[in-house]
Amino acid sequence: MAQNLHDIARALVADGKGILAADESTGTIKKRFDSIGVENTEENRRAYRDLLFTTPGAEEYISGVILFDETIRQSGHDGTPFPKLLESKGIIPGIKVDQGAKPLAHAEGETVTEGLDGLRERLAEYYGLGARFAKWRATYSITDDLPSDYCIWANAHALARYSALCQETGIVPIVEPEILQDGTHTIERGYHVACRVLAALYTELYDQRVDIEGTLLKPNMVLSGYEASNRAGFDEVAEWSLKCFYKHVPAAVPGIVFLSGGQSDEDATAHLNAMNATGPHPWQLSFSYGRALQAPSLKAWSGKPDQVEAGQRAYYHRAKLNSAARSGLYAPEMERETANV
Ligand code: 13P
Repeated sequence: MAQNLHDIARALVADGKGILAADESTGTIKKRFDSIGVENTEENRRAYRDLLFTTPGAEEYISGVILFDETIRQSGHDGTPFPKLLESKGIIPGIKVDQGAKPLAHAEGETVTEGLDGLRERLAEYYGLGARFAKWRATYSITDDLPSDYCIWANAHALARYSALCQETGIVPIVEPEILQDGTHTIERGYHVACRVLAALYTELYDQRVDIEGTLLKPNMVLSGYEASNRAGFDEVAEWSLKCFYKHVPAAVPGIVFLSGGQSDEDATAHLNAMNATGPHPWQLSFSYGRALQAPSLKAWSGKPDQVEAGQRAYYHRAKLNSAARSGLYAPEMERETANV
């Protein structure tokens, strides 16, 4: 079992490949659909995921896809269940298993992620449906006083409990401590918070006997706050992020797969590229983007059946550019290439 977990984790960060996060909850996908004027029905959600998952050639750049509970039970237009459809292309199906960030008691403005009750049983079901990796996302806000140690440790504890349960089931846990980048914080402040969050996370993972080589880390990049003046540029982001990971992420972790967290798709690609340009590093540095892989595709599709191919071309092109950023070979000029499917 352990060897298998290691193999799955390594396959998810195979050379030139990364993960598509398509696990938006019904509420979150509504926000994405609202932006293109598409009604949030079950069939529209299915049709959109079908567009992404049947994109010809996406498997050249995509190793795994994170699904939502509804999505793992849905099928493509030819009736093939989505997990089977992905597997047939050599893409590993994954599943979001947390049940969202809820207010943390006695901690104004902070959250703890819930979903541990019944998780062992849910994981067994998801394994039966084909999932071989999972995701759990904790969130932290940065202000002058936050995050508190209480919030950092409560979330680290839950991330570790989730991870141990996943491994017991034969599922690779992706641990996602997302420090939200809203606000005016400096990049130095972002760095210090990221260091505290990761130090607590790896303490809990070791204490709860998690096999680190059978996990992946999904962090935010270390950035200046989105509303900060004089925001750090690409190379500075790469430097601060790497400084933090070198201090706090064990070399036994096979890969760091970033979330995009509201960065533009081009920024998310350029930041990943800047980090890989100074490699090799002890871990694979890859992507597990939601918005930054999907934004152009959503827009090109806009819910129109005759625009499915345009949506697929846009997704394929974004995946290709992020693949180039896996080895520091992305250049902004590539944004202008025509996307061929
Ligand atoms: P974004 O890349 O849009 O941040 O989504 C990744 C994700 O899975 C967040 O949990």
